[in-house]
Amino acid sequence: MHSARGRSHAKIILIGEHSVVYGKPAIALPLSEVTTRVRISSVPSPIQMIRSRYFEGAIRQMPHTMYGLQHLISLILNEHHALDAQFELTIKSDLPAERGMGSSAATAVALIRALYNYFGWKLSHTELLQLANVSEIDMHGTPSGLDAATAASTNPIWMVKDRELTPIPIKMDGCLLICDSGIKGRTSEAVASVRTRLKNAPHETNQVLDKLSELTLAAKEQLAKNEICGLGKTFDKAQEQLRSLGVSTQKLDHLIHASRTLGSLGSKLTGGGRGGCFICLMPDQITAKKAGAQLKKLGVPQTWVQPLALRAKEEVN
Ligand code: MEV
Repeated sequence: MHSARGRSHAKIILIGEHSVVYGKPAIALPLSEVTTRVRISSVPSPIQMIRSRYFEGAIRQMPHTMYGLQHLISLILNEHHALDAQFELTIKSDLPAERGMGSSAATAVALIRALYNYFGWKLSHTELLQLANVSEIDMHGTPSGLDAATAASTNPIWMVKDRELTPIPIKMDGCLLICDSGIKGRTSEAVASVRTRLKNAPHETNQVLDKLSELTLAAKEQLAKNEICGLGKTFDKAQEQLRSLGVSTQKLDHLIHASRTLGSLGSKLTGGGRGGCFICLMPDQITAKKAGAQLKKLGVPQTWVQPLALRAKEEVN
């Protein structure tokens, strides 16, 4: 039996979500410990099967909610004249779905890697990102490409849509406490709501997007200079702007407020919002773990702690 694997990981947007869709910069981190794995194996019968937490069965019968992946698989096979290939795909993921951790992008990246490994096709980093964005467009309408870029990167990245994609150095003491709010965030709806706001109130909304852009530039400096208190304040200010964009919720506001009383130097939602995850900048791992335990008592189902001193690693496809 012939088989191959592909892997990717969760992402956390430090700052710049939503404004990145409109050409402003954003900074995101790979969470290399929280992974999605895809295994592909040959099968003796003429079928293409998929096994995942949402669906098990023939790829052509995948539910509409998985249309992005179905489209991606057929596009790749068609391009390589492999539509008749017989195989079974198994997707395993530690990422919670619809929580702003880039679950759909991580699945797409792992799946593309698995398919290309299985067939022995060459894959450049640019092709990987272009393909991952095919399913991201199906799922989210107008993605900036940030989720796919971070799911495929081993380094923290600085991105300006269609213009810049570079690893950035982070020399920061302290760590991030990442908390699931327990509510599904629908990125496509959140992105659409910002677009509507921009159409109905262009002046005010553009001011918010500009402010988020300024805060992202400030965060880049603070990350490079280990200015942890400054970065905390930047996170708090970014949360205010995201709130005024209408992408926070009462529950997020409440939990974020609580996190600040538990030692967070600054907290904000991450990703599309309207639920999903929020991040807290913590001075050290002990404070982060204690705060995480308290936040669980307030209804946070899951937390992760991510150190912020990240050394640049070699990129792999
Ligand atoms: C979603 O993880 C991040 C958003 O900025 C959308 C995007 O960048 O495509 C809200």
